[in-house]
Amino acid sequence: MSRIAYIDGQYQPLNQPGIMVEDRGYQFSDGVYEVCAIRAGRLVDETAHLDRLDYSLNELAIAAPMPRAALKLVMREVVRRNRILEGILYLQVSRGVAAREHGFAEGLKPVLVMTVRPLSAAKRQMIRTQGIHVLSVPDQRWARRDIKSISLLPNVLARQTARQADMQEAWQIDADGLVTEGAATNAWIVDADGVLRTRPATHDILNGIVRQVLLDLAAQQNLPVSKKPFSLDEAKAAKECFSTASTMSVFPVVSIDGCTIGDGKPGPIASALADAYDKAALRH
Ligand SMILES: Cc1ncc(COP(=O)(O)O)c(C=O)c1O
Repeated sequence: MSRIAYIDGQYQPLNQPGIMVEDRGYQFSDGVYEVCAIRAGRLVDETAHLDRLDYSLNELAIAAPMPRAALKLVMREVVRRNRILEGILYLQVSRGVAAREHGFAEGLKPVLVMTVRPLSAAKRQMIRTQGIHVLSVPDQRWARRDIKSISLLPNVLARQTARQADMQEAWQIDADGLVTEGAATNAWIVDADGVLRTRPATHDILNGIVRQVLLDLAAQQNLPVSKKPFSLDEAKAAKECFSTASTMSVFPVVSIDGCTIGDGKPGPIASALADAYDKAALRH
C-alpha cells in the first residue's frame, strides 16, 4: 500500500506528483519544516512543535498555511490514513508558488506538505543500547540556525561525510572550536565534573524540542545542568556524550573522531534521561 501524503489541500499517494515547479520551497529552499514523533499513534509534544513552526514562519515572514486547529486535524488525519503507531510526521510549509525571482511578493499562498513514516521501537532500542559514532566537521551554516529552515545543504553534507566514515552523526564545530550541534540533532555532554551541558538556545543552534523536554526532566531529577558551550576537546574528555532529536529522542554517543567516550558504552545519565523521556512521551 502506498503511503498517503497531504500535499497542498489533497490527501494523495506519496508517489504521485503534487508540487509545482515554481514552488519557492523547491527552487530557493524558501520554507520551513517540523518533524514530530508519533508514539502509540499519538503526536508527541505537538504544541511545542507548532509553537516552533509559528516562530520559524514569523521570522521569515511566511504566512501560516491554515489556523492551528485545522493544522492539527490534518496532522491527525495523515497519521490515521497511514495507520502509523510508531514513527515520525514531517510537515513543510513553503512560501508559495511564484515566477522565479529572488525577492517575493506579499500575499503568496503558502504550500503545506505532510508525510509520515514508520520508525520501529526496536531500532530506537538498538541505538539506545549500542550508541552511535560521531565525526566532527566544521560548521558551515548561516547565522540563523534557530529557524527550522528547509535549507539544509550544510547539514546534508555533514551527515554524508560522517556516513562515508562509517559514523552515524556529525557534530558541527564553530570557529572557536566549540560544538554547535549535530547535523540533525542537539549535542550534549556530561563533563568531567558531572555537569550536564548543552549549548544555550541562541541563533547558533536549533532549539530542539527534545532538548527542551530533557532540560525539564533533568531539573526534575535535580541533575546539575549548565548551558555553557563546550569544546570538541571537552566532549572527547567527557564522561558521557549524547545527541537528541525527535526522530529517536536520545542517541548515546560512544565515540567522537574514533576517540572512545567514557567506557565506550552508553552512559547512565543518557540512559536515565532516555527512559524519563519515553515515559513523558507516552503521557501525551
Ligand atoms: C540541526 C538540528 N538540531 C537539532 C535538532 C533536534 O530538534 P528536535 O529535538 O526538535 O527534533 C534537529 C532536528 O531535526 C536539527 O535538524
